[in-house]
Amino acid sequence: MKTLKTQVAIVGAGPSGLLLGQLLARQGIDNIIVERVSGEYVLGRIRAGILEQGFVDLVREAGVAERMDSEGEVHNGFDIAVNGRSFHIDLKTLTGGKTVLCYGQTEITRDLMAARAAAGLETYYEASDVALHDLKTESPHLTFEQAGEAVRLDCDYIAGCDGFHGVSRRSIPEELRTEHERVYPFGWLGLLADTPPVAEELIYCKSERGFALASRRSSTRSRYYLQVSMTDDVENWSDEAFWEELKKRLPEEAAERLVTGPSLEKSIAPLRSFVCEPMQYGALFLVGDAAHIVPPTGAKGLNLAASDVSTLSRILQRVYQQNDRACVEQYSPIALRRVWHGERFSWWMSNLLHSFNGDEINGMDAATYNRFMHSELDYYLNSDEGRAVIARQYVGLPYEALH
Ligand code: APR
Ligand code: PHB
Repeated sequence: MKTLKTQVAIVGAGPSGLLLGQLLARQGIDNIIVERVSGEYVLGRIRAGILEQGFVDLVREAGVAERMDSEGEVHNGFDIAVNGRSFHIDLKTLTGGKTVLCYGQTEITRDLMAARAAAGLETYYEASDVALHDLKTESPHLTFEQAGEAVRLDCDYIAGCDGFHGVSRRSIPEELRTEHERVYPFGWLGLLADTPPVAEELIYCKSERGFALASRRSSTRSRYYLQVSMTDDVENWSDEAFWEELKKRLPEEAAERLVTGPSLEKSIAPLRSFVCEPMQYGALFLVGDAAHIVPPTGAKGLNLAASDVSTLSRILQRVYQQNDRACVEQYSPIALRRVWHGERFSWWMSNLLHSFNGDEINGMDAATYNRFMHSELDYYLNSDEGRAVIARQYVGLPYEALH
């Protein structure tokens, strides 16, 4: 068996693992990433694209911000349209100057991979049977197989950055973890196209026919979503059917501007709220989607991963620079406080903007629930204070310092 050694073993080369690896390397902390699939496969995933300032700052700290800073679009606000009537959420004014950056997660991942390769940092792609061992001992390690060879990776700590379906979370004994979950009765059908977007900023649309989102990647690339039933199949949706339905859910003036074209990608994602507690067990830290999932309505998935990465990199810096091993205990409580705020916001936005039908929800029939949510949204959108509540959370709550 081939044996490797590093300070921090990172499972998963998604944005969490890559960003953490880059930040640690900058602080002189050795790390190796082990990823189940190929780099190309990772880059084939189309994900969200709204970055909070905290995320942007972290990417700058990691020294990988050049393309993000030149190609990313600063968004000063977005619209929420309710049955065709638009309300503007002016992020900048409502938050005292804060904005978000529109730049695709896939592009961030590409930039981080390129920086990692350029720095000569080790990554094992297409590693199968990754397993975590001896997490509560002085000799935690990973084992895996790569290119037909069995490998053992000895380390001080393991960062489980392997997403919702990864192996890391399941390596915490079941009796020691609590999982909180809400699965929504609908999914998002997403479509990416090289067409000019309908608007310069995002439009979140609540309509009688269901939710829709008009997003973008650039002035020539659009990203749209439709609420669909969780039992729907992407095969049921031709491009034409998608555009037709989108037109019906957009406010009229946006629908008139809509430019359609062939899809580059089309897929359905389920909507889920999920949190695993705690986020640390012995030498293992769970980071990003491995520990928590949010429905995409608040654009928080990647941004919650970023606050985990920030907290963990500061903890590991203190461990290695000040020999303070006790500070690892701070990871889970600090990370979870911010995660739960993001979870609540994403759950709330999802409830406000989607149409529920069929099943009973919160002890009432769906029609009654929809009326409550409609009224709540109306209440928030019609005052500066209400819009500010949305805006402050959308731009991202502050990161908590270590104690
Ligand atoms: N062994 C090694 N790698 C694994 C394993 C495994 N057993 N299981 C999964 N992985 C890899 C996946 O192939 C993937 O590349 O871990 C990576 C996890 O990446 P993501 O799912 O992208 O999760 P994360 O990096 O935490 O990204 C945060 O923000 O917008 C959200 O959900 C969105 O992906 C996004 C997330
Ligand atoms: C996206 O552009 O893919 C996107 C933007 C905002 C969201 C979700 C997805 O809330």
